[in-house]
Amino acid sequence: MKTRQRLDYRNKLILAPMVRVGTLPMRLLALEMGADIVYTEELVDLKLLRSIRRPNPALGTVDFVDPSDGTIVFRTCAQETSRLVLQMGTSDARRALAVGMLLQRDISGLDINMGCPKEFSIKGGMGAALLADPDKAANILRTLCSGLDIPVTCKIRILPDVERTIDLVQKLAATGIAAIGIHARTRDERPQHPAHPEVLRAVAQAVDIPIIANGGSKNMHCYEDLRKFQLECGADSVMVARAAQINVSIFRPEGLLPMDELIKKYLRLCVDYDNAPHNAKYCVQSILREMQETPRGKRFLQCQTLQQICEIWELGEYCRRKQRELRTMGNSGRAEVKP
Ligand code: FNR
Repeated sequence: MKTRQRLDYRNKLILAPMVRVGTLPMRLLALEMGADIVYTEELVDLKLLRSIRRPNPALGTVDFVDPSDGTIVFRTCAQETSRLVLQMGTSDARRALAVGMLLQRDISGLDINMGCPKEFSIKGGMGAALLADPDKAANILRTLCSGLDIPVTCKIRILPDVERTIDLVQKLAATGIAAIGIHARTRDERPQHPAHPEVLRAVAQAVDIPIIANGGSKNMHCYEDLRKFQLECGADSVMVARAAQINVSIFRPEGLLPMDELIKKYLRLCVDYDNAPHNAKYCVQSILREMQETPRGKRFLQCQTLQQICEIWELGEYCRRKQRELRTMGNSGRAEVKP
């Protein structure tokens, strides 16, 4: 593997893993806005394992393609490699390692999801199911740490009591992980519940590895709020999901960008990297929120193609020209994100 500087997780602003949001255009925009590290959406080990790595010269990307239907499971490019962490859903150490080996030249860190409370994850023994089986969780991390050249991390939720949370983090830290992301809510708490920064503070004081604080979006409206949450938690770094989904320029120390400017930047990247229209639409919807009720918002909701979406933000010609260029260069696949 080409030598790359090892990712350092201290004092970083991080785009959190978010299904359907954390695809290539949003990750690149987050980096442009000031994020130091970006996570992919959670990708499940089995899906990655059966994918085929295919460089795409027309787009300048590396695509991991599902051979059964040609959909793109994961698309990345050199511009993000040194700051990219892939989040995987897994319940099996050997399978996780096989995926890590397949991917490690294209990413700078591998994160294991140990916090997702959704039925799909729990049933498969993934996500928050691993919080209830610390030996298995530690075995997965130990296997990855000893078998891979890139840093390994995990993202957990806090447990209902502080002491048990500290015990768990100490056990996971002993596997050799480079950092730990902690969502300051328990498995059963939802976004409307307040986060528990005081628990993160207690954990941060008890362990040596970098703590990445997460769960503060409810009170984050600008860059300073990110730093405030980081301080409140006594954490090394801070990871943002919802606040960045709504306005990814929250990473900008200079302040938020106006909504239309942000959408235009995002759409240009969608065009440049031939992002799937339904994925672009989902992300723009997250930015527009109540503005979807305006006449322009309603027109947007009717859109089915990237071209139609781009017309609304005066990028119609840009999209047409780029898509023509890509067709000429023989772009070999469209980034398809399956719901
Ligand atoms: C998430 N979250 C999440 N977590 C994770 O570990 N893997 C994932 O793929 C996802 N997907 C996801 C999608 C969307 C749309 C949202 C809003 C959230 C949870 C997320 O990373 C984070 O832990 C929580 O949202 C709490 O952080 P915030 O929102 O308070 O910054």
